[in-house]
Amino acid sequence: MQSITLQTPDDWHLHFRDGDMLKETVPATARCFRRAIVMPNLAPPVRTADDALAYRSRILAARPEGSEFEPLMTLYLTDRTTPEDIAQAAAAGIPAVKLYPAGATTNSDAAVTDLEGRYPVLEALQKHKMLLLIHGEVTDAHIDIFDRERVFIDEKLKPIVERFPDLRVVFEHITTKEAVEFVESTHANVAATITPQHLLLNRNDMLVGGIRPHNYCLPVLKRNIHQQALRAVVASGSPKFFLGTDSAPHVQAKKETSCGCAGCYSAWAAIELYAQVFDELGALDKLEGFASHYGPDFYGLPRNSGTITLVKEDWRIPESITLADGEPIVPFMAGQSVPWKLVTD
Ligand code: DOR
Ligand code: ZN
Repeated sequence: MQSITLQTPDDWHLHFRDGDMLKETVPATARCFRRAIVMPNLAPPVRTADDALAYRSRILAARPEGSEFEPLMTLYLTDRTTPEDIAQAAAAGIPAVKLYPAGATTNSDAAVTDLEGRYPVLEALQKHKMLLLIHGEVTDAHIDIFDRERVFIDEKLKPIVERFPDLRVVFEHITTKEAVEFVESTHANVAATITPQHLLLNRNDMLVGGIRPHNYCLPVLKRNIHQQALRAVVASGSPKFFLGTDSAPHVQAKKETSCGCAGCYSAWAAIELYAQVFDELGALDKLEGFASHYGPDFYGLPRNSGTITLVKEDWRIPESITLADGEPIVPFMAGQSVPWKLVTD
């Protein structure tokens, strides 16, 4: 196949950041996605409907001329979040709330320490038909970083989905075969997003032959058997698994340092890298469901009306991108050749 046309896709999980960075991140995503679920882990976090609507305006202002890109906002669940906060978010049309266990990742120190204590808030989410988006890793110091997702499933996720069967839950950026098996076997209100890096790479790609900080993200890349489980499930065409890049920019100086930040800035090649994976799997016919159908169906939103086209043509991801203030960012897969190219007119 030399070309593929898809109903316009959406990105169901990404990080735009704020301020001047928006002039870079919003156009990079809007070039191929019509909507995106925008993560709330700013510093300070997006806690209330008012915070989210103000952030949304800043994102809209950073869209390229004529773009119809639509940010879908989320609130950051904290120990202080109340059922009233949820009612206000629902009234403001905010579709989802993000749960980070405290200390799990970038800017997560304001997050939930007492998950069970938040159950009245989860009750409110269920009542208002909002979604709960979960960063699924435990943060206990004694749990090995490669086991944190698997342990989260048994200790935290199973109790939530049993207690709130009508709550729609997205298990974000899953990385393990245990997560795949859990999502497949549990009820229909639980789905998962999968990133390009977890489909393309395993932990050898981060650690063999030298540490590669631009492949470091959280949840961290796992061993090859987990990568294979993720690849198999997207090739199966299961509607419980859909596209969420977790595109997460950090300036080069914060990635290439003695204590580097987690995150892969994949927006520059997101849909193209997914096309590469599905092509490698002989499953290009399943790409449209994953990228353009299953996400809106799960969120209860209409599918997009337009289309995008990709052609089989090699191009190279830039080595570096320069922000307006002169700071460089190294994009995910910098300098690498990608076999699928987005047609732009
Ligand atoms: O790698 C990651 N980067 N994982 C996350 O959960 C957060 C993200 C970020 O905000 O940088
Ligand atoms: Zn994320």
